[in-house]
Amino acid sequence: MPVRAASRSIFHFPLLLLASIFPFVAGKKTSSALGSSSAVEDYLERILELINSKGYARVVDIAAGLKISQASVTNMVQRLDAEGLLKYEKYRGLALTTAGEKLARNITHRHHLLTDFLKLLGLDDQVIYHDVEGMEHHISPPTLRAIEALTSQLQRQPALLIKVRKQIGAS
Ligand code: FE2
Repeated sequence: MPVRAASRSIFHFPLLLLASIFPFVAGKKTSSALGSSSAVEDYLERILELINSKGYARVVDIAAGLKISQASVTNMVQRLDAEGLLKYEKYRGLALTTAGEKLARNITHRHHLLTDFLKLLGLDDQVIYHDVEGMEHHISPPTLRAIEALTSQLQRQPALLIKVRKQIGAS
């Protein structure tokens, strides 16, 4: 996990938060005291998923889901707390703030749209998951809207969908 220690200044925080919330306005992916914006999105996505499925998110479950050490997760969670994206209390677990939940819902939305599209094409589930986990961090809003429109049109045109699936060798 690209979590690295770096010196911070009070001027650093608003920029970091802005870049996290508006990655497309910021232009490039950010690398900062928080790590890359992809790492932040992965954490928030996992935390929201845990809260939705279990009602709470613990460091141990986040670590298992992201396949990293609990120490790294604790470190990152404290940084996300400092950035105002979640509230973390060692023995009481953690909760997303409004800003954190907004980011988490955004990445989850991208994940679902991309998954729906690739599933429609009949691709292998593992390939889909792997590809979506990468694509969701990089796709721009216009491209996502185009894929959403394409998904909706293909769902309404089963004959065309069959042709596409045949062409790519999907079952
Ligand atoms: Fe995802």
